[in-house]
Amino acid sequence: MKVIPTGQTLGASIEAVDLAHPLSASDIRTLLCALGQYGVLCFPKQTIDTAAFAAFARRFGELEVNVANQFHEPGFPEIMILSNQIGSDGKPVGLNDAGQGWHTDMSYSRDIALANVLHALAVPVRNRKSVGETQFRNMHAAYDELPETLKQTLEGNTATHDFEKFWEVMRCRPGSRRAKLTEEQKRRKPPVSQPLVRVHPLTGRKVLYANPGYTMWIDGMDRHESDTILDYLFRHQERADFLYAHRWSVGDVLMWDNIGTVHNAVADYMPDEPRYMRRAQVMATLDYPSLVA
Ligand code: OGA
Ligand code: MN
Repeated sequence: MKVIPTGQTLGASIEAVDLAHPLSASDIRTLLCALGQYGVLCFPKQTIDTAAFAAFARRFGELEVNVANQFHEPGFPEIMILSNQIGSDGKPVGLNDAGQGWHTDMSYSRDIALANVLHALAVPVRNRKSVGETQFRNMHAAYDELPETLKQTLEGNTATHDFEKFWEVMRCRPGSRRAKLTEEQKRRKPPVSQPLVRVHPLTGRKVLYANPGYTMWIDGMDRHESDTILDYLFRHQERADFLYAHRWSVGDVLMWDNIGTVHNAVADYMPDEPRYMRRAQVMATLDYPSLVA
């Protein structure tokens, strides 16, 4: 297995590995270290089936069954389908609008996610270039580059994150297929407080943990002051030197850090340009510091 960094703020390609075969414990450790260091790992040209994909993802932690999970691979409730395709029965085959806006997966959950893993089975291509890229921003760098006074203001403070915030933004977009969340779904994902600064379990370094998708306000702070700080933080995250964009190829398995990055799906493709991704959400359930020590 070879780890080849992109040389940009995030990203590494993991070459000479076939995810159809179980990885050794030492390979998993290498990948966890690389995930912390590079944030986005691409395993190109993988041809694995759903079972092998799920087994690979599960090596890094328990897999979440999404609270609004409508689309999944048959027999695998934990493997979601993201797709803009319509089946022969006239029904959507997957969630067609996942992640279209800057966010961090599962920040709305008391138990947070370590990583998301996607396997690209269909990628829209136009003029021989793939469209529908996924963008990432480096939250280790974003924290490091904050003014010292703001670091001190954030330290020890928490913010409220709410699943319904992003859901409603998406639901209100023209043509959305999303329904209002049910009371049961809301009960299962109530708003939660998260530290604004976390020590990343893979790197031991501080990261900025706030995202426009789910973060509502800073707890216990005057609302105007909270809005001003969050607005500053979200603009700060937009700095060009924190940005990395992944252009997909069919067969890519992409694994990204859901503690040290925020991400955004660019929906610059049309309904007749098929995109199909398998998706596994890896929860932060293992003792990572001891694994990477
Ligand atoms: C997600 C997500 C981005 C994409 O699955 O959580 O944000 O490009 N997906 O599909
Ligand atoms: Mn996402």
